Amino acid sequence: MSDQILSAPSVQRNREPILAVLREVLPSRGLVLEVASGSGEHVVHFAAALPGLTFQPSDPDTAALGSIAARTAKSGLANIRPPLRLDAAAPDWPVPAADAVICINMIHISPWRATLGLFAQAGRVLRPGGVLYLYGPYRRPGRELEPSNLAFDESLRSRNPEWGLRDLDTVAALAAASGFGAPAMTEMPANNLSLVFRRV
Ligand SMILES: C[S@@+](CC[C@H](N)C(=O)[O-])C[C@H]1O[C@@H](n2cnc3c(N)ncnc32)[C@H](O)[C@@H]1O
Repeated sequence: MSDQILSAPSVQRNREPILAVLREVLPSRGLVLEVASGSGEHVVHFAAALPGLTFQPSDPDTAALGSIAARTAKSGLANIRPPLRLDAAAPDWPVPAADAVICINMIHISPWRATLGLFAQAGRVLRPGGVLYLYGPYRRPGRELEPSNLAFDESLRSRNPEWGLRDLDTVAALAAASGFGAPAMTEMPANNLSLVFRRV
């Protein structure tokens, strides 16, 4: 049986704004590891737009891996590697090195240990200057959560008490402790942020 193609409605809305940031911060050549690729829609979009880069999608979920493989095959793109089963929380990512790591909409929909693993392992695979790109909603210092993000946070926590919007300052502190500089921030549609961390 062929792998089932999954779709996330948010991707149609956020893929172009995210691509605009990635165009500014990714190298022109090299390997980009995507953590939590989900349906595979982002990686196909980015790989088509950035042909000088090779993309390595990944996810821990079997259905996601099937969807990524099916979308990659359908795209006909040669610059997407077969997806890897990768749990960000694991201490042994099956990737020795990458020129950039991207992770979209994962850290609030996974236990905190996945974020700890993301920074620890991205710090290991990236060289100095290498980019770790995160996209998603955050709690920001001195600001109330926007009503849409407050409702989203409550729904995440009701689904899993270990999920929920992360505190931007806490993530930035973890990044600093993991060998990354302070994040460059870009405001994104629907109260999301792009965060770009560079390996020191
Ligand atoms: C909301 S989806 C986002 C998928 C895709 N990045 C997007 O924006 O459409 C969250 C993804 O995180 C993945 N995920 C959850 N826990 C994870 C972990 N510990 N390590 C890596 N990925 C994880 C899920 O399997 C799922 O594909």
